[in-house]
Amino acid sequence: MNLIRSIKGTHDILPADSKKWQKLESIVREICSRFGYEEIRTPAFEETQLFSRSVGEDTDIVSKEMYSWEDRDGTSLTLRPELTASVVRSFIQHNLGAQSPAQRLYYMGPLFRRERPQKGRQRQFHQFGVEAFGSENPEQDAEIIAIAWHILNECGLSDNATLHLNSIGSPECRKNYREALKDFIRPNLDKLSETSQIRFETNPLRILDTKADFEQKLLEGAPTVSDYFTEEDKTHFDSVQSFLSSMEIPFSLNEKLVRGLDYYSRTVFEFTSSSLGAQDALLGGGRYDDLVETLGGKPTPGIGFAAGMERFLMTMDEQNLDSKTDIYFVCLDEEGIPTALSLTNQLRQAGFSVITDSLRRSMKAQMREANKSGARYAIILGETEMENGTVVLRNLEKGEQEAIHHSDLINKMQNLTN
Ligand code: HAM
Repeated sequence: MNLIRSIKGTHDILPADSKKWQKLESIVREICSRFGYEEIRTPAFEETQLFSRSVGEDTDIVSKEMYSWEDRDGTSLTLRPELTASVVRSFIQHNLGAQSPAQRLYYMGPLFRRERPQKGRQRQFHQFGVEAFGSENPEQDAEIIAIAWHILNECGLSDNATLHLNSIGSPECRKNYREALKDFIRPNLDKLSETSQIRFETNPLRILDTKADFEQKLLEGAPTVSDYFTEEDKTHFDSVQSFLSSMEIPFSLNEKLVRGLDYYSRTVFEFTSSSLGAQDALLGGGRYDDLVETLGGKPTPGIGFAAGMERFLMTMDEQNLDSKTDIYFVCLDEEGIPTALSLTNQLRQAGFSVITDSLRRSMKAQMREANKSGARYAIILGETEMENGTVVLRNLEKGEQEAIHHSDLINKMQNLTN
């Protein structure tokens, strides 16, 4: 019989790794709540048009990478390739803007993109992200970037991370810039790659994103978007930079940063990591002041970012992942099982994490497991202890042990761990 295996580009998260995931998840929750952001969870699939209308028909995500299918009633559905569109849909559908003029949301979950799998790039991957609705002011941009910065710091990643910052201006600015860029490129259009030639018609700004050296050469001396900023675009971007400086968050201006999704305007940013390979973007985001309106809501500015959790975990140190197990309970005889169940139940109710052996193994095998489990204490219940109404409490780090009466056990454990 053929063994069934997981699909290419998808991964199991096994117990050996889930501690790292939980650590990252708890850091994200902690920092987001420090900034007053609340969690939103949206469905894993949506109507296809949600993504084509927001992310954009001509983007790689929508044109090549979506897992879409026709449902039995003929509706085209898609596994979410990103979460901003879903959050905006939910924001509009539940009229969240009416509850508070500033909505601050965060999320975590799996996403699906049919990309070529490689290191740091999966077909099912996970993001955490934040979205803030209601403020078009630059302090909101600074807040969003600060959240990313705090999470990176808490994960120990900030030393190897670089914040790339750009503004792609308002729609008015981009319209003029697009024409100027096309005029600059047109004489060399036939020398560009096929992809860039298509982008010339669909979204010429994305040509700036090219990784090919010969194209970068051809782009030397091209006009920059900042030449076409409106007065408001310029003031906004200057303030974002000065607010970041007030928070001592270092950044590097990068005029080539345009991002691969169509909904952005003004501020865009990415954090890259020098300890990742070719896929070095830890997280990316930006402002999307027209997206709520595009999807049928009342005009509401928004800004956010999303981070690749697998990429975070690839660069996160394994240290500081303390075992959560407090006690390994070793029961040596079948007759002791009811007492062991009663004591472990009381210990768990008192807040201790306790592992027991359900295989009725030897003392030696159970003690080996106890040491492997990372527990600080072993509690041993054998024949003698059953007769005396005691257990042996062994400190696994120090190797010391003493007999404790059953009725004193909870108190003793509480004193030891306080
Ligand atoms: P994105 O740049 O497409 O933006 O994705 C954000 C992050 O998700 C990337 O920087 C990367 O770390 C991770 N990522 C993307 N694709 C993959 C993949 N195939 N495998 C592993 N990791 C991946 C967005 O998704 C926007 N929704 C971000 C945003 C939120 N903008 C405003 N608000």
